[in-house]
Formats: sequence, C-alpha cells, structure tokens
Amino acid sequence: MTTVGIDAVEIWTGNLKLDLPGTFAPQMGEDPEKYTKGLGLNASSFPDSYEDIVTMGANAAYRLMDRKGLEPEDIGRIDVATESAFDNSKPVSTYVAGCLEQVYEGDFHHANKGERKFACIAGTQSLDDAYNWIKAGRHRGRAAIVIATDTALYARGDAGEATQGAGAVAMLISEDPSLVELSIEQGYGSADETDFLKPNQQFPSVDGKRSVQVYLARMREALEDFESIAGDSHPDQYAYIPFHTPFPGMVRKAGLLGYRHMIRDTEIEDELAAEIGRQPRAEAFDDEEAFREALREYMDSLKETETYQDWYAKTIDPTLTLSREVGNWYTGSVHVARASVLKHGLENDLDLTGSKLLVGSYGSGAEAEIHAETIQEGWREEIAALNVDEQLAARYDLTWDDYEEIHDAHNHDMDVDIEPRTTPDAEFVFDGWGRMGERKYRFVE
Ligand code: CAA
Repeated sequence: MTTVGIDAVEIWTGNLKLDLPGTFAPQMGEDPEKYTKGLGLNASSFPDSYEDIVTMGANAAYRLMDRKGLEPEDIGRIDVATESAFDNSKPVSTYVAGCLEQVYEGDFHHANKGERKFACIAGTQSLDDAYNWIKAGRHRGRAAIVIATDTALYARGDAGEATQGAGAVAMLISEDPSLVELSIEQGYGSADETDFLKPNQQFPSVDGKRSVQVYLARMREALEDFESIAGDSHPDQYAYIPFHTPFPGMVRKAGLLGYRHMIRDTEIEDELAAEIGRQPRAEAFDDEEAFREALREYMDSLKETETYQDWYAKTIDPTLTLSREVGNWYTGSVHVARASVLKHGLENDLDLTGSKLLVGSYGSGAEAEIHAETIQEGWREEIAALNVDEQLAARYDLTWDDYEEIHDAHNHDMDVDIEPRTTPDAEFVFDGWGRMGERKYRFVE
C-alpha cells in the first residue's frame, strides 16, 4: 500500500523577538517565573514591519522547494492554514503562489489552492486534505505544499499577550515520505464551544481559563475516539507525543491527563498503586463532585511520582524546546512541536526510524484530532537541513518601546508607519498596497 506523509518541513520565524522574563515581565509587574516556569515561555517571535502571514509562509515554502530541488510543476496543491487571514475571499495561497512565481520560471496555474479555517487545528486539517488527495490517486504523481502561517497577536492588556508569536511552517506532503508516515486511524473530539474566537476582528476574544478546560476535554474525547479504532494506547507505545502548544504549560496539563488515561488498567497503574493508590472510578462514587475531587487528588499525586516524571521528561518535554523560544504560532504550533522532537533526536544521535509519534492537534471553537505517525528512514537528513537555530539567534531583541511600536504597526485599526528593525536578506517582503486594496510583495535579494 502507498505510504503517504510529510516528506520535508521548513520553519520560518518572525524576525523579531520579545524577551518575556527580561522585557515583558517587568512592565507587567509580574514575577519572570510566571512566564518561564508557569507558562513555560522564554520568548515570543514577532513579525517585523515588512513581514506578515504571506511573507513568512512564502519564505518557508521557498526554502522547502529550493532545498528539495522542486519546480512549480512538481506541486499539485498549495493549501494555507491560518487564523490571521486579511481577506474573506482571495485565499492566502494565491498570494504565496504569486510570490513564488517571482522567483521561479514556471507557474502554479495547475495547482489547486485553498485556505483552511478552524483555529489552530486548520494546519492538521490541511495535512489531511493533502493526504486524502494523494491516497485517492488524484495527485498525478505530484506533491502538495501545506503552509501553516500566523501572526498570533492579542490585544494589548489581554492575558493572552504573554503567549503571542509569529511564524510559518511549510510541509511537503507526498508518497513515500522521508520524514513521517501518517496513520489512517484518526480520532476526533469536537463541540460547539465559545472559548476563543475572532468575529470579524483582528485580535481574539478569549475566555482564557475556559479555553484551557475546553482544550483538555476535546483532547480526551479525541483520544477515546482514536482508541476506538486503533486500540488502547500505552505510554510505552509512542516515542514522543507532540501536542498543539499555545504555551508549554498547557501541554504540561495535557500530558498528565493523557498519561492518567493511558495507564488505566495497565501494569503501570498496578505498580503505582502502592505509592499513590489506584485511580478513582466514577462507579465507586455516588456524588460527581466527590469523584472529581478524588481525581484531582490522584492527579496531584501522580504528577509527583518518579514514573510519571521520567515519562514526561522523555516523551513530552523534548516537544517543547522550540515553542519556549517562539510562543504560539496557532496553526503551526503542533508542527513546530513535531520538528522540535525530531531535532532533539538528531542532536542526541537517537535511532528514531520506525518509532511512533502520537500527534494531538487542537483548534478553539472547538476540535481536537489525534493520529499516529511513523518516523521514516530519511528523517535525519531532513531535520539536519533545518536552519531554525540560526534564524532564532538572528532575531532582533525588542526593547519595550520597540514592542509597543511594532504591536501598533501590526494593529489593523491603527495607521502607524515605522522603520523596520531588521534588514531583509534573500526573502519576500510586504511592499505596499495595490489599486484594489490587495497586498503587494516582492523578493529582496
Ligand atoms: N512562578 C511559577 N509559576 C507561576 C508563577 C510564578 N511566579 N506565577 C504564575 N504561575 C503559574 C500559574 O500557577 C499558572 O500555572 P497553572 O495553570 O499550572 O497553575 C501559570 O503560571 C499561568 O498563570 P495564570 O493562570 O495566572 O496566567 P494568566 O491568568 O495571566 O493567563 C492564560 C493564562 C489564561 C492561559 C492566558 O495566557 C491566556 O488567555 N492565553 C490565551 C489562550 C490560550 O492560549 N489558551 C490555551 C488553550 S486554547 C488553545 O490552545 C488555542 C490557542 O492556541 C489559542
């Protein structure tokens, strides 16, 4: 049977950086450890004045095509996932294709283009669309480019301001992939929720605390749905579990919940019973609140066990390394988590070929999706080609005054023109407005 999955990945970070403990915390009057330890973030990536979702997406896609030696005729599909779109009709993928056509002789006239919206899960849904298109045999031997690109900015003063970020992930989806093969099995957890939304507005309306609960509830539903077809999961089955990462502290909660679920009725629960007892079962309680309280107590104890902490350090923590430095990239975040863990494997010379990932995506509004991935033989070479560390190190470190100006410059309700803080180098840049209000781009050598 044809294997289909991610053949290659590229990451493009916004060119600016906001230091959360050093620059943001003092202005907020908060303890820096709220950011580094609580939320788990050191920095957020920001777009410079000439960057937006199109430039970042096109730059990631150009690196991908260039490195893989691809021409436009090799690509049958370009899908962009974003929740930062600026046009309700013309999709971002047409702008990206227009950018790429400036640097290639060929064109993408025969490539299907679209834009996917379902908050942060849209990146994974676009991956699905490409996977299904190839599996159905409609691709004529061509590959798909999926781009997840966002400027995840919150209104000034919103609690989410600490979790901002900006960047793009471009992925090449093909037959016989070099990086990961996707499982046919998928699980969904979806409900009509009002946790985070942007009703025709740039910055989100967020019920932050509730969004955390909705993420966990939908993720649990998705895991149960996945297990209904893939069989019960066990913590030792997956080398790593990359989750959607709005901030690492969120994944800390998801990891604990997932572990509790996976060890139920296993030898791990039995072995831990002497130390912390067995998991409370709903049927043993008359009262729902007493059951919830017992669960909370069990989770608090579980979190402190060496067994759990070792598993977390091995399986979850390496997924968070990049996220800690870039913040939330919305549609790209779960794909950054996957890249992070493969990078960890490369840096530690691990033999990951054939190992499994369990990938947990989430989008507010709300839906979670879980599928498995198998790491392919070519993963090492693909990940070695990433230059994300150099990109992160080259970011301009914003002062507080810079940050205020940059946030205003990207605020659609403000008309603020500022000097860029960085100099574009071999990349696409925003180049002003066209006669019908369209955004224009050019490649800077
Ligand atoms: N030292 C160590 N830890 C500290 C600390 C200190 N000095 N001060 C606070 N903390 C800890 C807190 O205990 C808390 O951790 P726990 O939840 O584990 O207890 C953590 O730091 C955050 O502190 P607060 O809860 O007080 O932070 P807050 O109220 O200012 O905001 C938030 C948190 C509500 C998540 C806010 O960042 C927010 O609204 N973010 C945007 C929404 C979001 O990302 N939601 C995630 C789920 S929805 C989703 O995933 C989709 C998406 O991408 C948006």
